[in-house]
Amino acid sequence: MDPLELVLRWAHILPAATLSGGLIYQWIQVTSWDDDEERQESSRKRWSKIVMICALLLLVSGLANTARISIGFVLPMYYHILLLVKILLAFGVFYLSSLLAGRSETAKKFQADRGKWLKVTALMVIAIVLLGSVMKVSVRQPKSENDEATSQADDATSSQTMIGRNG
Ligand code: HEM
Repeated sequence: MDPLELVLRWAHILPAATLSGGLIYQWIQVTSWDDDEERQESSRKRWSKIVMICALLLLVSGLANTARISIGFVLPMYYHILLLVKILLAFGVFYLSSLLAGRSETAKKFQADRGKWLKVTALMVIAIVLLGSVMKVSVRQPKSENDEATSQADDATSSQTMIGRNG
C-alpha cells in the first residue's frame, strides 16, 4: 500500500463527501429554510468556512493526484477529457458554493434565488463525483511496465535485425 496515495485519497474523498453532502442537504431543506435571521447568519458563517476548507483540500489533493497519476501511468485519452470536464465543473461548484455562503451584494442576489442555485450546484457536484469514480476505475498502465515492455520489444527487434544481417 502506498501511504501517499492513501493520504491523498482521504484528503480528496472527505471534502468531496462534506461539500456534496452539505449542498444536497441544503437543496432538500430549501423549502423549510430557517426564517430566523440570526440563526441563518450563524449557520451561513459556519458553512462558508467549511466550503473554503473543502475547496482548498480538493484543489491541493486534486492537483497532487493529477500530477502523481499523469507521471506514473499511461492513461486512456478519455481520462484526460473527464479530468478537464471535472476540473471545470469543480471551479463552477467552488464559485457557486462561495456565493451561496457569501455576504457580498452579488451573493445576496444569488441567495434571493437560493432554491434554483442550490439545485444547479448540487447536480454539478453529483456529476463530479460520478466522473471522479469513472476516472478511479479507468484502466491504467504503470509507465515503468510500459517502458519495460517497450525496451523488451526494442531488444527483440534489434536481435532480429542482427540475426537477419548475420544471416
Ligand atoms: C467539487 C470538487 C470535487 C469533487 C466533489 C471531487 C470528487 C472526486 C471523487 C469522488 C473522486 C473519486 C475518488 C476515489 O474513488 O478515490 C475524484 C477523483 C479524482 N479527482 Fe476530484 N473532486 C473535485 C475536484 C477536483 C479537482 C479540482 C481536481 C484537480 C485539480 C480533481 C482531481 C481528481 C483526480 C485526478 C481524481 C482521480 C484519481 C484517480 O484516478 O485515482 N478533483 N474526485
